[in-house]
Amino acid sequence: MAMPQRPQTNDIGSPALPLPIPKEVSPPACDDCQRLQTEMAANPGGPKMNTTGWILLGITGVGSTKRTDYTPDLASSLLSHLSIGGSAVALTVLCGPFVTPALRKVCLPYVPATTAQVENVFTALKGRSGSLVDIGSGDGRIVYAGAQRGFRAHGIELNPWLVLFAQLRARRWGLNRSATFARQDLWQSDLRHFDNVVIFGVQEMMPQLEAKLDRELSVKSCVVACRFPFPNWKPINVVGEGIDTVWLYRPKT
Ligand SMILES: C[S@@+](CC[C@H](N)C(=O)[O-])C[C@H]1O[C@@H](n2cnc3c(N)ncnc32)[C@H](O)[C@@H]1O
Repeated sequence: MAMPQRPQTNDIGSPALPLPIPKEVSPPACDDCQRLQTEMAANPGGPKMNTTGWILLGITGVGSTKRTDYTPDLASSLLSHLSIGGSAVALTVLCGPFVTPALRKVCLPYVPATTAQVENVFTALKGRSGSLVDIGSGDGRIVYAGAQRGFRAHGIELNPWLVLFAQLRARRWGLNRSATFARQDLWQSDLRHFDNVVIFGVQEMMPQLEAKLDRELSVKSCVVACRFPFPNWKPINVVGEGIDTVWLYRPKT
């Protein structure tokens, strides 16, 4: 006698029903798809590279000749070359002015004055007034301090970024009338119109600067040297100690 067959069940225990087999449905072909298909059939390697493509290929070093291969590589390689090149240019433009002083005959790097040094400068200049110039004014701290004490204060600075920074800060602090800045080479600047000259330089430049100031300054001028004294002039006052020492001179008296 034939045994009754157990009906097949699915996972949830109900009798399995035959599942409908999905028919393959092709989406209606759009105009663009048809055009692309025709193009691909006619030229499976893609259109030939034009001259610009070859030039870019040469610059970027992307080695594929098939357009379908090189297009994404070319774009990303071009982008990465541009971003690396752009960053290098930006870094050079930003840092160059801070590095180039080292290449000059007299290397005068940017080292800002300490708070004690700035105080010592104005202690030495107590009782003085009129115009004041800081030659190599850096971020402008001596010029601002001069302006706040009533001097017509001016900064001469070679580094354009420091000049811009000092000018913007003077404006923000409402000092832009009494604290002015110019991008200038101190060796090319005429210093004869200043009543008070401040220099925070380096030892090697002091003999040459002494000679320049001797030629240009008037009898009423005062000079304050920070950290390094002049080699021949006799100071009329010395304020502070160590790296904050400043020397006051009346060169023409
Ligand atoms: C030691 S820092 C003094 C900065 C500022 N006077 C202070 O006390 O904070 C010297 C400055 O002189 C600038 N400098 C270097 N050579 C220069 C030149 N030939 N003419 C004008 N400024 C120069 C540098 O860029 C730097 O900012």
